[in-house]
Amino acid sequence: MGLDPKLELHLHLEGAAPPLFIRGLAREKHIDISGIFDERGNYKYKDFWDFLKVYEAATSVLTTPEDYARLTRAVLEESAAQGVIYSETFLSPDFCGGRDLAAWRDYLAAMQEAADEAERKDGIILRGIITCIRHFGPEKARETALCAAETAGDWIVGFGIAGDEKVLAPKDFRWSFDCAKESGLRLTAHAGEWGGPSSVRDAVRDLGVERIGHGVRAIEDLALVDELAEREIVLEVCPGSNVALGIYPGFRKHPIGQLFDRGVKVTVSTDDPPFFHTTMSREFDMLHQAFDWDDGVFKTLNETALAAAFCDAKTKDKIKKKLEA
Ligand code: ADE
Ligand code: ZN
Repeated sequence: MGLDPKLELHLHLEGAAPPLFIRGLAREKHIDISGIFDERGNYKYKDFWDFLKVYEAATSVLTTPEDYARLTRAVLEESAAQGVIYSETFLSPDFCGGRDLAAWRDYLAAMQEAADEAERKDGIILRGIITCIRHFGPEKARETALCAAETAGDWIVGFGIAGDEKVLAPKDFRWSFDCAKESGLRLTAHAGEWGGPSSVRDAVRDLGVERIGHGVRAIEDLALVDELAEREIVLEVCPGSNVALGIYPGFRKHPIGQLFDRGVKVTVSTDDPPFFHTTMSREFDMLHQAFDWDDGVFKTLNETALAAAFCDAKTKDKIKKKLEA
């Protein structure tokens, strides 16, 4: 259910890797990561911090540009099956060649080629947001930002930060965000998922981001909520991810309804689908059930996502035509 077609702004490429795909690669390369799966073959983790470790272990079997091309194909096939026509995915030079620019260019070319192929086959459009990893520290983030600056264009359209929100502070990454911005990239940051309202405030103030990944814990400070609404900062909300990780006990208790009602620009995404058992259709279904949201609201979400997308005007026109068709 849920309105088709859909737009998705917050998806981690490695986090979207089906466990079967990762197990297959591990087998081919004789890498033993059996400990990250449960008896049914799903990813297994105890909490968010364990999830980050499992994520990195799963990612360790992706060692070549061709692996990332295969991953891109698999992920886009699933997204297209969910009715997604436009997707922005987080990509990390940390995992693609260890932040070496020449290697990163090879990974990027492979992913772009796979994305072009998916667009021709299924009509789905993909764009990339280069993401540094907070717990890897500011030094590595600077190298990531340089890769981002060198490959910024009409396909790499944004820069962001993911990882452990409990370590370091947004201001520690200011140089990287300034560097990315100077190269024309649009900015987003994970905040207000594990950190409270001050984490969201710091990201907006110190990094100058126009979107926030998650941002849901802004709800704990209504003055901040009003400020986000006023400044039209867009939240990339991933309700199913937050519920799976135990931030909220269920969709009915999730603040997306309140944020929307108070005028904050919200969008809906799946974050790391096989880890959290999220799909775009399920997110829409659950929101319909929890808040009685109908196609009118889902249409608003799509319009917000289109306006907040980091792609260029020509691409937006193309998406708009598909939405109207
Ligand atoms: N990396 C992948 N998923 C993430 C999440 N939900 N929060 C922070 N970093 C992530
Ligand atoms: Zn995320």
